[in-house]
Amino acid sequence: MLLRATLSAGAIAALCLLPAPGAANESGCVSSFDATRDYFPDKVESKYGSGFDIRYTGNAKYIRNNISGESYVLYQCGTPMPADAQATPANSLQVGNWTKVAEVPGTRVALDSAAASAALELLGLQDVVAASYERFLVTSPCMQKRLAGLPRIQQSQDAQARRRRNSSSSGRLARRVAYDLAGSDVQWTFTTYGMSDPRSFAVNPESATDLLGKAEWIKFVAAFFNREAEANRVFGDIERSYSATRERLAAQATRRTVGFARYNKVANGTVLGWTVEQPDAWVVSGLADAGMVAHAGPATSFTDTAGFRDATANWDVLVDSSIEPLARGGSTIPQWQDLLAGYGLSDSAGARGAKTLPYLAASSIYRSDLVSSYQNATDYDEHLQLRADLLLEDFGHIAAAPSGTTATTWYRNMPLNVNVNWVSAADCAS
Ligand SMILES: *[C@@H]1O[C@H](CO)[C@@H](O)[C@H](O)[C@H]1NC(C)=O
Ligand SMILES: *[C@@H]1O[C@H](CO)[C@@H](O)[C@H](O)[C@H]1NC(C)=O
Ligand SMILES: *[C@@H]1O[C@H](CO)[C@@H](O)[C@H](O)[C@H]1NC(C)=O
Ligand SMILES: *[C@@H]1O[C@H](CO)[C@@H](O)[C@H](O)[C@H]1NC(C)=O
Ligand SMILES: *[C@@H]1O[C@H](CO)[C@@H](O)[C@H](O)[C@H]1NC(C)=O
Ligand SMILES: *[C@@H]1O[C@H](CO)[C@@H](O)[C@H](O)[C@H]1NC(C)=O
Repeated sequence: MLLRATLSAGAIAALCLLPAPGAANESGCVSSFDATRDYFPDKVESKYGSGFDIRYTGNAKYIRNNISGESYVLYQCGTPMPADAQATPANSLQVGNWTKVAEVPGTRVALDSAAASAALELLGLQDVVAASYERFLVTSPCMQKRLAGLPRIQQSQDAQARRRRNSSSSGRLARRVAYDLAGSDVQWTFTTYGMSDPRSFAVNPESATDLLGKAEWIKFVAAFFNREAEANRVFGDIERSYSATRERLAAQATRRTVGFARYNKVANGTVLGWTVEQPDAWVVSGLADAGMVAHAGPATSFTDTAGFRDATANWDVLVDSSIEPLARGGSTIPQWQDLLAGYGLSDSAGARGAKTLPYLAASSIYRSDLVSSYQNATDYDEHLQLRADLLLEDFGHIAAAPSGTTATTWYRNMPLNVNVNWVSAADCAS
């Protein structure tokens, strides 16, 4: 009796794992089509400033990516392509606004987007990565390890003959660039930019207008794999944690001012000038949620340090984005000595002149490259783009540290000489 009861409980459990007939198959195709059925009972929606929206009808998902300016129609594999899915032809010379169509769920995809890599990892979907663009870099140690064993794909650019002037957009050349997936069974490439490639999809959390909107790109990526339920769970955790941190930080608001700047060094080592940068909307909104104020105004360049120091005289925190160009091309990540020289602080006269700068007095100069790979990829482009909750924690630590903090995930304190946490495939634990 006991054995029979156990068996039938097991049998029932097994039955429950099967999708309802005609429901979307999370791992592959369905074998029959029912036009009256909702194939995607689990749905995601964009509620914050993500820059995309998504709507569902029957067996299809319609996504608008406002940032790449593209429309995507995804439909359940094993069902007919929706009649209104008008894919832009692969040989089209149209500039932007492409419509791209794909069957989901994806099972084999190529990466040319660090944010997509992070989203796949957060969703536990890293096994779908089957190739990457030849110049693509990631920081995640386990993704570095995975990519090392996978094919690298190239981009093919159309010959000069197929370029032509687009007269309505002031003589801009319309050039077609596509990923070369020939000879592979990869379904599509996740990219950063909208491309003249019918099999590429852009993932753009870097252009969201608020921090939770950045995190919502987890939902976007999940839709390509029918993993909406998982995305809602992962995003829900981030959202709850973000809200709790925001409430805690609002109670101890410091209103410190954060500015963004860089020196402009060229390969021969000369600094040509200094730039106060205009922060992205998501930084402004994230700093506000952490009780700080972003220095506003358009990007401004200075050709002498006096002008630059005047412009930054009321900053409590400076976030640096300088690069150290290498003589033979490429660049490397600055260290504190580089910043001292780059901002003209390394000699005693320079240091005296800058003595009253609050961000210097408070050891509050940061860079967002604390986690980087030996190829100079930074986790800033990867997990920071999605983990809004941890980013807000970083801002909170910076807000609460009148003499600088080292308790951050991505921001590296420069005057306190925090070292880059260099990561490589060897750091992958599994
Ligand atoms: C789901 O898709 C997989 C792979 O295509 C297939 O083997 C499986 O039979 C499908 N399951 C259902 C319920 O359609
Ligand atoms: C996309 O852009 C249009 C036009 O600017 C705007 O009306 C719409 O709200 C935007 N949608 C999203 C999801 O950002
Ligand atoms: C030319 O550019 C305009 C504006 O960017 C765009 O609307 C139009 O579709 C383009 N035409 C072609 C043929 O690409
Ligand atoms: C983009 O293409 C769609 C059709 O796919 C069209 O309705 C829309 O007007 C186009 N938008 C722009 C800005 O060209
Ligand atoms: C370095 O390059 C800049 C511009 O590229 C030039 O103006 C400057 O004279 C150069 N300096 C030296 C020492 O070569
Ligand atoms: C960054 O990459 C360049 C190659 O582009 C390399 O020469 C340099 O050493 C790297 N920098 C660091 C700090 O790894």
